[in-house]
Amino acid sequence: MKRILYVASEAVPFIKTGGLADVVGSLPKCFNKEEFDVRVILPKYMCMSEEWKSKMNYVTHFYMDLAWRSQYVGVLEMKYDGIQFYFIDNEYYFSGAKPYGNIYQDIEKFAFFSKAALSALPLIGFQPDIVHCHDWQTGLIPVLLKDKFHEGEFFRDMKSIITIHNLKFQGVWDVKTVRDITGLPAYYFTPDKLEAYGDANYLKGGIVYADAITTVSETYAEEIKMPFYGEGLDGLMRARANSLRGIVNGIDYDVFNPETDPTIPNHYNSRNFRKEKIKNKRALQRELGLTQNDSTFMVGIVSRLTGQKGFDLIAHMMDEICQNDIQIVALGTGEEKYENMFRHFAWKYQGKVSANIFYSEPLSHRVYAACDAFLMPSLFEPCGLSQLISLRYGTIPIVRETGGLKDTVIPYNEYESTGTGFSFANYNAHEMYHTLQYAMYTYYNKKREWNKLIDRAMAADYSWNNSARKYAELYNWL
Ligand code: ADP
Ligand code: GLC
Repeated sequence: MKRILYVASEAVPFIKTGGLADVVGSLPKCFNKEEFDVRVILPKYMCMSEEWKSKMNYVTHFYMDLAWRSQYVGVLEMKYDGIQFYFIDNEYYFSGAKPYGNIYQDIEKFAFFSKAALSALPLIGFQPDIVHCHDWQTGLIPVLLKDKFHEGEFFRDMKSIITIHNLKFQGVWDVKTVRDITGLPAYYFTPDKLEAYGDANYLKGGIVYADAITTVSETYAEEIKMPFYGEGLDGLMRARANSLRGIVNGIDYDVFNPETDPTIPNHYNSRNFRKEKIKNKRALQRELGLTQNDSTFMVGIVSRLTGQKGFDLIAHMMDEICQNDIQIVALGTGEEKYENMFRHFAWKYQGKVSANIFYSEPLSHRVYAACDAFLMPSLFEPCGLSQLISLRYGTIPIVRETGGLKDTVIPYNEYESTGTGFSFANYNAHEMYHTLQYAMYTYYNKKREWNKLIDRAMAADYSWNNSARKYAELYNWL
């Protein structure tokens, strides 16, 4: 039996700001329980809902040194969906209204969390063979495992993996402060270790010291070896290419299932979508005050509103897009300029554009279920889960060919009648627009072909089965 510990800053259903939470919350369930004991350790944020906090059980507490500070570490636990979760409690660090705040606070917060997660293990009596870290927030763990922790018997043989969900976020702050926070000696702060461009870099530390590195799609694993996608670390990614592997994400097929999803008004499946899916469109048009019309091409967007997701292309083309017989439903929060962009077009094209500038899990499901197509023209996309959810709901993705979007959406070929979506190569607003028009043309003029696209989209398998097997291989190999 192999013991694996996931350490992460978010996981569904406890706390979520993005796809990372979906992955950490759903992947651990997908391993054979006879072969792997997978457990998860998270911060206990004050902003978690009372529903979860009230179900956590106290395990133990202790005081831990963090350089010159001595900090309280509470450990709580809870079993959920067959998985053992642990939570690190400290009200000084985890009391914010959101999991992440100012970077200078987060730098100390996640130094504390990383050290506390390891320090708690002997006390809770779980000795993992592998510590599987996720993103910069846990980047110090592979470093710590090679540092002081290495001296103790308990930690000596522990291996570490770091999964990069987004190379853009690296946890960067000045060396002096990070040394003061972590207590790590000067030895670590050189360009071949934690230092990058004069600053301390948590993710870089993780990448340098982990025994294996993964990222969330094969294409992204290639892209980050190049300057355009490498975020300044492409040289390091090339240097560690032999230890780097891309494993595409899956989604939880029990949660995202149009046949049973309790949050959508009308259930459907791959056999009856022709008659049943449309009822979700009617309901959403009614709910959001869009013009009631069965045949109008409805395009969904559910996203963090940031430059990464290609909103500059959308902003540039919105007026032209809205000259068509089309409806756009946007759900998201993020940068103010994009929030206001959608608000503006919803005002300008009433009945055609719906701007929902907030976060809502249930509404997101209704959008995935109701729309004909889903637009995701990302500038870069490590994996992307929204397009996988769209495929599952028979909502045809329109994407740019980057990262996981390239690996999971097969472009429509009208001559061979293959493909599961529409895609374009260059980060160019008109290329996106022409691809959208092509999708629209197919929808309006070749209904049978469109329905066959839906058949193929719904038949695609992006459950965790395949990818969990690849992680299992990696765990066994280590
Ligand atoms: P990222 O992690 O880069 O934000 P992903 O596509 O991997 O992108 O995952 C985003 C997840 O967050 C998806 O499950 C998506 O449906 C969800 N999501 C994003 N914005 C919202 C929102 N405003 N309301 C509900 N769900 C959202
Ligand atoms: C990051 C990426 C996204 C990926 C998610 C989960 O948030 O931006 O592409 O799907 O992590 O791995």
